[in-house]
Amino acid sequence: MKPSPRTFHVKSFGCQMNVYDGDRMTELLEAEGLKAAADAETADLVVLNTCHIREKAAEKVYSDIGRLVKRETGRAPMIAVAGCVAQAEGAEIPRRAPAVDIVVGPQAYHNLPALVREAAAGRTALDTDMPALSKFGALPARRRQAPGAFLTVQEGCDKFCTYCVVPYTRGAELSRPFTAIVDEAKALVDAGAREITLLGQNVNAWREDGRGLDELIRALDAIPGLARIRYTTSHPNDMTEGLIRAHAEVEKLMPYLHLPVQSGSDRVLRAMNRSHSADSYLRILERVRAARPDIAISGDFIVGFPGETEAEFEETLRIVEAVNYAQAFSFKYSARPGTPAAGMADQVPLAVMDERLQRLQALLNAQQLAFNQASVGRRTQVLIERVGRKPGQMLGKSPWLQSVHLETDAAIGDLVEVELLAAGPNSLAGAALVREAA
Ligand code: 5AD
Ligand code: SF4
Repeated sequence: MKPSPRTFHVKSFGCQMNVYDGDRMTELLEAEGLKAAADAETADLVVLNTCHIREKAAEKVYSDIGRLVKRETGRAPMIAVAGCVAQAEGAEIPRRAPAVDIVVGPQAYHNLPALVREAAAGRTALDTDMPALSKFGALPARRRQAPGAFLTVQEGCDKFCTYCVVPYTRGAELSRPFTAIVDEAKALVDAGAREITLLGQNVNAWREDGRGLDELIRALDAIPGLARIRYTTSHPNDMTEGLIRAHAEVEKLMPYLHLPVQSGSDRVLRAMNRSHSADSYLRILERVRAARPDIAISGDFIVGFPGETEAEFEETLRIVEAVNYAQAFSFKYSARPGTPAAGMADQVPLAVMDERLQRLQALLNAQQLAFNQASVGRRTQVLIERVGRKPGQMLGKSPWLQSVHLETDAAIGDLVEVELLAAGPNSLAGAALVREAA
């Protein structure tokens, strides 16, 4: 039996929603009187906040559990598996890894303190219920200090892309109430946030009484002290006229849009159940760029979806060329248990996927470098997020979500006027501009 923990460590994998959930679990455990440990090595309780989106991500939890059992301290911690692997595998986890004490799904983690007490009493504690939104109301108030904050506004997905586990692990599309979101945004700003990223698996599907995400963004725009608003991840089909207009009209809304297309082949898009075509996607981006010409476009891609031919893969290269991405994520297709695509014929051999991914990433990396290089000479604002490695150096983000390093005596949370001086594939160098005295 493991004693009641006094210290804890939360380790989050995967998407930004997990980062948000991890922060909330931290706040919850702190409110219970537990102290954050420096790392997983020394903590009495370790929460593995897992991701199930691809096989590699899902298997990571078991190697992590193995490492925790053999800690140098010689004593295994109380282990909680949270997140989407917990939701998908449930009671199978302690069967496969008996060292696991707690299994808690993404819609149930407000019960974590009770589950910890149950585990301390010697029982394996499991909660993978999906009550509609109850967790948010049961969570403590926000006390986050960092300038960049995440705020979950929508969870789940009803789109059922045939490769994706999200509709099963995160459940149906659900929007949090308008007032709860605005209140949480104000609390985050009071706690030091300057930038808020609205999160959802389908964030642009957020709805309440006929109001859409654009109206939520406009409400946040009115919060004094908040300087920047972002949102992610969006589905092409929910890119409304109002949201596109917000990019032209709301100054705090940053010029960045993560809009995954997954493939450039209409046959593959149909097999994926994406319900948009390559062409309709391009037309949406035309309208977005007309509203906000400098907008940085980012995307997600899957290579080697079942049945994808060489010619169909080349259509993906072609759409990438047509869009010109500032940034992107690309993955080899990974068959996920229970999804329709996992049972499709013509699974593409790994070697073919490897080769396609390399070609796609070479093109995307070149576009990212070109986008960064085209920013050189721009005068803009950088939101300082942390201290750099060199003395006097600070790191922050440009409006286009580029990492910028500069020498400045500005503090974390300051917005600094900079000129961008040099660009690499993953970051830019900037110089702080001295503002003339008024
Ligand atoms: N295999 C590979 N990539 C996937 N994604 C989602 N499911 C899978 C899968 N089964 C990718 C998609 C999605 C991103 C979050 O992960 O590109 O947009
Ligand atoms: Fe998954 Fe598709 Fe929903 Fe995105 S839109 S979460 S890829 S099912």
